[in-house]
Amino acid sequence: MKKSVLFLGLAALLFASCGEKKQEEVKTEVETTVEAAKEVVTEVAATDNIALGKQLFTDKTCATCHLADTKVIGPSIKDINKIYEEKNGNIVSFLKGESPAIVDTDPGQVAIMKANLDSFVKDLSGDELAALSAYMRSVK
Ligand code: HEC
Repeated sequence: MKKSVLFLGLAALLFASCGEKKQEEVKTEVETTVEAAKEVVTEVAATDNIALGKQLFTDKTCATCHLADTKVIGPSIKDINKIYEEKNGNIVSFLKGESPAIVDTDPGQVAIMKANLDSFVKDLSGDELAALSAYMRSVK
């Protein structure tokens, strides 16, 4: 929606400016509009990624052990975000098995999550892991 409004705006601008404005001015205005349009496209892509992550979080059963606010079997998403922010951690690299647990380091708990990493999480693509991480980080 936003995208098409901007593109319409761009077309209108080109149309209206032909007669009156100097070419240089028009060029700058068009460039500014194109930049703004690019930002919207990036924003839309990020929103899509979060939506995909949310879907995967349910489909891949993460949601059964991780609620937004409350600890069930695993820590809440908010608790995970808090620790990952404080310690500058990387959720994708944890999910790839490349970095150790930093939220709950109790061996029994780590083993539960590790079982997921070793069974089905390893089959997810890099894009899917990035989407999961984007979704988790979007939970405020
Ligand atoms: C069977 C329950 C269970 C499922 C399903 C599950 N987790 Fe976990 N998860 C846990 C437990 C328990 C911990 C705590 C141990 C730990 O922190 O490693 C945890 C920890 C985590 C952590 C924090 C790791 C850290 O640094 O300590 C992340 C991130 C995470 N899970 C993401 C996910 C995602 C994404 C999925 C779905 C693909 C998922 N989990 C599915 C139980 C689960």
